[in-house]
Amino acid sequence: MNNFQFFSPTEFVFGKGTENEAGYYVKKHGGTNVLLHFGGGSAVKSGLLGKVRASLEKEGISYSELGGVKPNPRDTLVYEGIELCRKKNIDFILAVGGGSVIDSAKAIAMGVPYDGDFWDFYSGKSPKAALPVATVLTIAAAGSEGSGDSVITKEDGGLKRGAGSDLIRPKFSIMDPELTCTLPPYQTACGATDIMAHVFERYFTNTTEVEITDRLCEAVLLTMIKETPRVIADPDNYDARANIMWAGTVAHTNIVGVGREQDWNSHGIEHELSALYDCAHGAGLAVIMPAWMEFVYKHNPLRFAQAATRIWGCQMDFEEPENTAREGIVRFRRFLRSIGMPLTFEELGAKAEDIPALVDKFGIGSGRTGGFVKLSADDITAIYKIAVDPELI
Ligand code: NZQ
Ligand code: ZN
Repeated sequence: MNNFQFFSPTEFVFGKGTENEAGYYVKKHGGTNVLLHFGGGSAVKSGLLGKVRASLEKEGISYSELGGVKPNPRDTLVYEGIELCRKKNIDFILAVGGGSVIDSAKAIAMGVPYDGDFWDFYSGKSPKAALPVATVLTIAAAGSEGSGDSVITKEDGGLKRGAGSDLIRPKFSIMDPELTCTLPPYQTACGATDIMAHVFERYFTNTTEVEITDRLCEAVLLTMIKETPRVIADPDNYDARANIMWAGTVAHTNIVGVGREQDWNSHGIEHELSALYDCAHGAGLAVIMPAWMEFVYKHNPLRFAQAATRIWGCQMDFEEPENTAREGIVRFRRFLRSIGMPLTFEELGAKAEDIPALVDKFGIGSGRTGGFVKLSADDITAIYKIAVDPELI
């Protein structure tokens, strides 16, 4: 196992009705003048925003509001948020929504105390300060409620890029699984796919002797395989929603990924799709992640065969472990299909003729990206092509 540091300072407040305590936790974490940040209307329609406002008022906390965050959040609203925070002397940002709202809040938080353009942090620069951020989570998916990451899309040029810093790890995250019951089945499935992808990106590693994190990864994946069909069939199933919600956080705080080399190429390859087509990140991953697996499994068929047997219940073919590895990929795609996810470029609304542009935007030139298998631009082209017409389907 590799050396590691694990820092997860977020206070998680989990369960029914916890959104009514938002004001209490803002005060506890030092907020006195809050920016309430939210999305396109689901939090208004469900009455959640009203509850959060009431809880802030109960604690005597003043607040300003900025709604309108789009899925695949844009830089333009971030600039607006930075200006608003400066004008109103905001000292705490509360994101009420999913990964997009939380990521937008994190970007504003880094931008407010910074003299330059906040986009610098999405181009490799590390922030030195950030306003405190907290969340009231409404969808189990991105894991941003427990992560130090934020992903923003620059409208001009459609660049989707990530920033990472412990400074933007949420101070607290309120997680009421009941809030996720209003999600349409498609969004629920997109979230589930993203959660599973966060685990797979860590599971396929070249680091050996990492039994503890292998087993933690498998536990999260087995949970998702059991619980996702339950909430698709019965959206109001609180217990299944609760298990999925916590799985989403566990999948991405990095507790299942410490001490091992990870591979985030499927995410990078997918981000170009959601940047160009504005599709849901999870749907893009349903198309890309199995295609990536199809491309790389021969690098270590035994690791893929381990996944196939332990996660997908395949019989091990000791003579030809590659057969087992392939069967695991087939079963992953079948699962994704069963929860209503797209599996091909066409089903996602992507176009094969855009592949050169997608690879170009990925921007590795003649270099290679790190991970389980180090990929060249030609390899990324090959993965997109598999996603156009998968073999193991
Ligand atoms: O805008 P509203 O009206 O809230 O609608 C949202 C949105 O349309 C809706 N929704 C959310 N909660 C709901 C609900 N509808 C009904 N009931 C509810 N309770 O769902 C739609 C999707 O929301 P979004 O926030 O975009 O979803 P998600 O959490 O999947 O976030 C996706 C973004 O996170 C990034 C993705 O790239 C994408 O931009 N990621 C962030 C990561 C991180 N910060 O650590 C890691 C991830 O790998 C990912 O890249
Ligand atoms: Zn993701």
